[in-house]
Amino acid sequence: MKIYKLKTEEDASKKASEIIIKTIKNKEDCVLGLATGSTPLKTYQFLIDAYKNKKIDFSKVAAVNLDEYKGLSKDDPNSYSYFMDKHLFNQINIKNTNIPDGMEKDPVKACNTYQKTLNNLGPVDLQILGIGLNGHIGFNEPGTDFNEETHLVSLSKSTISANRRFFLKEEDVPKFAYTMGIKTIMKSKTILLIATGKNKKEILKESLTGPVTTNVPASILQTHENVIVIGDSESLEWYED
Ligand code: PGA
Repeated sequence: MKIYKLKTEEDASKKASEIIIKTIKNKEDCVLGLATGSTPLKTYQFLIDAYKNKKIDFSKVAAVNLDEYKGLSKDDPNSYSYFMDKHLFNQINIKNTNIPDGMEKDPVKACNTYQKTLNNLGPVDLQILGIGLNGHIGFNEPGTDFNEETHLVSLSKSTISANRRFFLKEEDVPKFAYTMGIKTIMKSKTILLIATGKNKKEILKESLTGPVTTNVPASILQTHENVIVIGDSESLEWYED
């Protein structure tokens, strides 16, 4: 595991974008695993800047996203599909983007279809991950079997309350989501975990240095042979280079 402790969130995002850009330069048709949430926003902005400055070409890249809320359409501003279009895809020349279908009511069908897409594309070359306050990666909540592939998740209270900030009312926050499973995440050739800010400090430390347990889903990353962790002086306060 390689840990980069950068000073600020801006520095951490710049470093993350450089790793993504290098991956694409080394393999123009790479499979990039992408994440939503606040964490990767600045990283995506650096990617957009690099594209606008003609430093990077996304035309042959395939993107697969980690998760999507069940019941939200692509046009819903709170859907992850909408988020990705707005914060990245609509501003770069990517063509091949994939995300679970939140409008598919049949969970078996939704999950099988997405898993088939993931299997056809092959292992992800570089998977970007954020981390939830409860240690979730994607929407793999505490207790999720490490062998799960794409599945329907009943979101935990902690996740629902963390997501509350994006919705007008608590009742509007979706309670279910489709997520890529940990088994698929772990098949990625390289995993890039980004965590910034002091509210991620405890869970990041527990995930990287505590026991490997399904109670802390991100702890499984300790067993992956190619993980890069990027944090800032707050999230990695406890870590000495
Ligand atoms: P955040 O979410 O980037 O908004 O903190 C991360 C996550 O829940 O995985």
